[in-house]
Parts: sequence; structure tokens; C-alpha cells
Amino acid sequence: MTSKESEVLPGYYRERKSGHWARRALLVLLTISGLIFFTTSRNFIKDLPSTSAVKTAIEEAARTWSRPHEPDSLCPLVKKVDPRSLLYNNDTINTILHDETFRNESLKKLWNAVRIPTQVYDDQKNPNSTETLEELYKIEPRWKPYEQFHKYLEKTYPLVHKHLKVEHVNKFALVYTWQGSTDKKPILLTAHMDVVPIQEETLDQWKYPPFEGGYDGKFLYGRGVSDCKDLLIALLGTVELLLKEGKFKPERTIILGFGYDEESAGTGGAVISRHLFSRYGPDSLYALIDEGDSGYMEVDEKTRIVIPATGEKGHLNSLIDLFTPGGHSSFPPPHTSIGLLSKLVSKIEDSEFESILTPSNPTLKELQCLAEYSSVLDKDLKSSILKAHMDASANKNVLDYLDKDKILRYLVRTSQAVDIIGGGVKSNALPEHASVLVNHRIAVEESVESTRQKIVNQILELAKEYDLGVLVDGKEVKEKTKNGHFVYTTNEPLEPAPVTPINDEVWQTFGGSLRYLYEELLFPEEDKTYVVSPFLSIGNTDTKSYWDLTRNIYRYVPGLTDFDANVHSVNERLEFDAHLSVIAFYYYYLQVVDGVSDPS
Ligand SMILES: *[C@@H]1O[C@H](CO)[C@@H](O)[C@H](O)[C@H]1NC(C)=O
Ligand SMILES: *[C@@H]1O[C@H](CO)[C@@H](O)[C@H](O)[C@H]1NC(C)=O
Ligand SMILES: *[C@@H]1O[C@H](CO)[C@@H](O)[C@H](O)[C@H]1NC(C)=O
Ligand SMILES: [Zn+2]
Repeated sequence: MTSKESEVLPGYYRERKSGHWARRALLVLLTISGLIFFTTSRNFIKDLPSTSAVKTAIEEAARTWSRPHEPDSLCPLVKKVDPRSLLYNNDTINTILHDETFRNESLKKLWNAVRIPTQVYDDQKNPNSTETLEELYKIEPRWKPYEQFHKYLEKTYPLVHKHLKVEHVNKFALVYTWQGSTDKKPILLTAHMDVVPIQEETLDQWKYPPFEGGYDGKFLYGRGVSDCKDLLIALLGTVELLLKEGKFKPERTIILGFGYDEESAGTGGAVISRHLFSRYGPDSLYALIDEGDSGYMEVDEKTRIVIPATGEKGHLNSLIDLFTPGGHSSFPPPHTSIGLLSKLVSKIEDSEFESILTPSNPTLKELQCLAEYSSVLDKDLKSSILKAHMDASANKNVLDYLDKDKILRYLVRTSQAVDIIGGGVKSNALPEHASVLVNHRIAVEESVESTRQKIVNQILELAKEYDLGVLVDGKEVKEKTKNGHFVYTTNEPLEPAPVTPINDEVWQTFGGSLRYLYEELLFPEEDKTYVVSPFLSIGNTDTKSYWDLTRNIYRYVPGLTDFDANVHSVNERLEFDAHLSVIAFYYYYLQVVDGVSDPS
């Protein structure tokens, strides 16, 4: 655990260029490291007063809190699922994980997929811009590799393309449907075929050319190998294998959905979601499993924790413009628009969003799982965590602890990053306009509206102090004055994701199948317990488009952990065994979920 700590911070800050997905695994490693090695403060438990919002939330939590499985545990272990007797061929798992021919063939399939440069750019034109592909390539030739990628999949997975319904949605999204024989709710497995573009100036830092790839006997290198062609290829490989064996006749429909622009936060997820929504309607899927972190984290010598993300923070940009009268620089007012806007920026930064931790935040459950199973966690902190759902002062202690960490604090509060500022054009002219953009990642307990409200209130306070007007979304909420006025608008609003339930059989089956993977297949000699816990992701995936289709959304790739996967960076890589464990997992998990009934 410690040895990784030094790698955590640099890794964490390698966030995506488009800013929509943080390295969540690293965050959690930090969570755990931080918690495990927190032993400093002896007078940690103090009777601190709590604010009213927190108090209300805690009271509400105490009322609604339930422990469905074991009354004494806040984090009951999911029951391990042993799939062997359910499988049509229980030798296949061994073949997937240990057979050299299977390994070599799978390696070749993934490697060749990586060689097709499906880079997506932030300014790439929507594929719906033209009727035909020919016309599209004239205005946007950067889509051409996608057609090549489709052809590659057709050639490489002939049985999938023969037996499943294959639909192209908005030209490049792929939806594969393996029709089940009953009306059990379909399961949807998703991944994306696009990859982050290469920056030319980094080419000489790659061990192997990014779209040629290379294999060193353990790791396969290349752009997209880890994010996320490994998942896409593993899903197709699993289905191809099931078809080749010819024994599995699904009762539950299996759908694979592959988007084309997750990395530019585009429309791929949304077009697939609309397509499926019009076919199946609301709340019609058994579960959706998308990309996310993979692997597990160390808790102590006997315990590891597996954390599929069951929630995602929301998102919003606040755009603030200030218009003031111009004039000559030789007789300026005490504050120009730039000065006034600076005061506003200070005000926003000096008064942060409130931190709050209720059972609606998966972080609380994750902390409680750590507290319950860790043998090395500070005793006082542990005691506070275990009471944090029903005791306001314990809750405050936990928040104080999280607040001290510059990353953990954002699991429990809305962030505000002042990212872009502009204003002024000339040294001898007063700036008539200045503007600033503040980016927010919205906490589970907050909303787009409460985030807007906090910023609007601060603008109004400053406007009052300096006698300025305020327009919010074009509506005058404080009358314009001769001194000037603020204009507040927002863009890219996204509410925090509805949190995936963990008190149902869908979670039990998924978690129990994961325990089987780690405890019985990957590390049978180790005798460790894998605690499956929910987790809050501070970034967003394509799952943001799928909320209407199911509450059971997991963002997680079953398999091995690699903290040096260099996602979005040079020398992106994948430990190839990790790819095989994804295939092994889905090989039995698809058969397991086929046999269970839908949650009532
Ligand atoms: C494989 O499946 C068969 C049939 O269900 C079962 O009898 C056998 O015990 C299984 N083998 C293992 C190793 O579990
Ligand atoms: C698998 O590939 C390796 C490396 O190319 C090769 O040495 C080995 O003989 C192959 N094994 C099989 C069974 O094809
Ligand atoms: C293409 O899709 C975008 C985003 O979904 C939509 O706003 C636009 O109207 C569509 N254009 C056409 C020509 O269908
Ligand atoms: Zn991805």
C-alpha cells in the first residue's frame, strides 16, 4: 500500500484532456492509504457543533438507514457466487485464463484493434452532419478509421456478426443484440471504440509507436489498449466464444453498446441510449456495466476491497461576465471590471461549498466498509466512521478528517475551480468587459440548481456592495446601474448520477461473481477476503446517458489492477492477463445472470 503512495499524486493529476474522467483508482488508493496511515491526532473526537444542513441530513439518514442483510454489520459481505455448476462447460474458464493458444489468439485480436487509429477530437463533426458516409468523409475525414474498425470487428468476430443483430446508430455507434428466449430484462454491457488523440510532440517518448503497438511478454502497449479497447474486445471475444461452444442459449437478452466519442464527451452514448429507450422503454434493463476502475485495493494483510462505482458527481460551468463603462486609463474608478471580478473570484474561493456526508453518498458506505474490515485504521477515526450515519458529531469528525486531504475533500463537497479568465484589450483603455469561467463537480447531496444558487448569491452580495446590476440567464434579478452589471449563465449542466442501489440481488450477483473471480480464479493461493463496496466517481463516463434505462449501473472492469496503465498518456499499456480475466469474468457472469430472475 505504501509503495504506491508516491505514484498516486502524479497519476491522479493526469486527468483527461476533456476533463470528464479522473483516475478514480488512484483516488481510492489514496483514500485507503490516507485512512490506513492516519494515526496522528489523538484528540480527534471532539464535540464539534454541526451546521444545520448537515444536521438535517443526518437526521434524515438516521430515519432511512437500513441494514438489510446482517443486522450487526454496516458492510455485510456479498455472498460469493460459485458459477461452476451453472456453466455449460466449466473447463472453459481454465482455457481462457491458462491456455497458451487462446492467449496468443486473444493477444493478436486486441493488438490489431489497437492498430486502427480511432482517435476522436473535441471539434470532430457529429456523424449526423451528412446523410452518407462519403459526404461525411469529405467534411470530416477523421471518421474514416471507424469504418475500418467496424470491418475489422466483422472479420474478427464472424459468429457474433452472424448470430446477433448488429445495428449502426448514427453511423458509428454499434449495438449488438443477442436475443434471449424470455422477457427477462436485457443486460447491457458498454465500452467505447474511440481513443484519446496522440500529441505529435510526444511520439518519440513512446516505447512502441502508439498505433503500431508492442508486447513485451507481459504488457501490451498502444493507444487505447487500456481505455478502452481491452473491454470492447473482451466483450466481443466472450460472446464469440459462447457462440463457438454453441451450448449457451440465453434466456436474458444480451446487448453490447459501443460508442464512438466518449473521450470528447460527445453524442455516442446518448444515441445508443435513445435507440434502446425507444425499443425497451424506461427502467427496462437488468443492469448496465460500463468502463471504470479495475481491480482491487489493499485494506490490510487479509483484506482487499473491490469498488465498482455506483455514483458519479454532477457537472456545471458557471460563466460570469461583468460589463462596466469604458474610459481613459488616466482617470480610472477605484475598481475596474477586472478589479471587481477579482473581488468576486476571491469571494467565491474564500467561501467554499459546504461539505456533507449522508448515506446517499457511496463514500459513506465505502468508508464504513474500510472501517469495519481494516485492522490498522486509527481507532477513533474508525469509531466516528461507524457512527457517521446517525451521529452528527461523529459525522462532523469524519468530514473534518476528509476536509484535510486535498483530494478526499471532494468526495463530500461540490468543487469550484476558477479555470478561465479574460478581460481588457489596451493599456490606455478601461476594460469594459471581463469574464470568468468556474468549473464545478457537483456533490451527490447537491444539484445543478443549488450550485447555481450559491454562485448567484455571491454575485448578488458583491453587486450590492458596489451598486451593480445582475442578470441571471437573461433575466434582470437586480436592476442594471450606471456602474455596470454582471451577467450569469451556465453550461454543460449534469446532475449527480442517481446512485445505484446495493440492497438488491443485482448487486449481490455482480459482487458475488467478482468475489469468485478474485478469490477462486485469480488468487486462489492467497486466502484473502474481497469486500465489495460501492464507490463515488468524481469524473463522468458515457453512463450519464443511460439513467432512464436502469438504476443498476456499475462502472468497473473486472480483473487486475495496474496503476501505471498511463491512460491518456504516452506508453498506455495493459497487463495482458487483465484482458483474459475480463473474458473469464463475463464468460461465467453472463451465464449466471441468465439464470437469475429479475429483481421485483
Ligand atoms: C463441472 O460441472 C459439472 C456439471 O455441472 C459438475 O458435476 C462438476 O462438478 C463441475 N466441475 C467442477 C470442477 O466444479
Ligand atoms: C504463443 O506465442 C509465443 C510468442 O509468439 C510463442 O512462442 C508460442 O509458441 C505461442 N504458443 C502457441 C501455443 O501458439
Ligand atoms: C445531430 O445531433 C445533434 C446532437 O444530438 C442535434 O442537435 C442535431 O440537431 C442533429 N442534426 C441533424 C442534422 O440531425
Ligand atoms: Zn474510456
